[in-house]
Amino acid sequence: MRIDAATLFPAAFDYLRLSVTGEALRLGVLDLHVHDIRDFALDRNKKVDDAPYGGGAGMLMAPGPVARALDHIRTVGPRGTAPHAVLLTPRGARLDQARLEALARRSWLVLLCARYEGMDERLHASRFVDEELSIGDYVLAGGDLAALVVVEGVARLLPGVLGNAESPVQESFHGGLLEYPQYTRPEEFEGGRVPRLLLSGHQGRIDRWRRAMAVKITYRRRPDLLAGAELTPEEKERLVRWRERDGGED
Ligand code: ADE
Repeated sequence: MRIDAATLFPAAFDYLRLSVTGEALRLGVLDLHVHDIRDFALDRNKKVDDAPYGGGAGMLMAPGPVARALDHIRTVGPRGTAPHAVLLTPRGARLDQARLEALARRSWLVLLCARYEGMDERLHASRFVDEELSIGDYVLAGGDLAALVVVEGVARLLPGVLGNAESPVQESFHGGLLEYPQYTRPEEFEGGRVPRLLLSGHQGRIDRWRRAMAVKITYRRRPDLLAGAELTPEEKERLVRWRERDGGED
């Protein structure tokens, strides 16, 4: 997969040389190109921002340098293909695991990082932007950290990046549930013991326990996820009983 990022802070993307994304880059399954939007400013001072029409606090990113950066990216990418361009903004659709999986199936992404108080509106719904994404309902100083979140979330889904082929599957949010509790050595730590079942070697019982714990933890912490989770009829019945016991409506 190829990813091009357009940013005012290229150094932020050095983080991606570490750990899982670093491995994806070394393996060549991820091909990352970082572009400094300031290189596409035309004036001597490399100005990329301007005051908003109508007044108001702060500065906006001017459309010119960003548009030139994105046009440049289209010319350096694979011939005959168009990238899927994502603008990171608090106004975007909320990023979740399903959206990361959809992005990981694409062959070429462009991530556009805004700074200051945002971008000129004419860049939002434009030929430059296919999708707007937010990483959560809070406002950062710019889209760079959000773009790093997208790259890491996508990179670990690419084939061959995680050693254990199963690990992207058996984890939080797979099947819409939070992850079951996990333990490693020692067997006892500060008075807490590893559940005996996990030491028993009965894989079938262990799998059933893990599944039951995942349902229970999701019910307690993120009941909103249960509506979209894949549940068996028995699990659905269990939820009905828990809701009755806890005084819920259904
Ligand atoms: N830029 C600023 N805040 C953001 C957020 N929450 N998600 C994506 N981009 C952003």
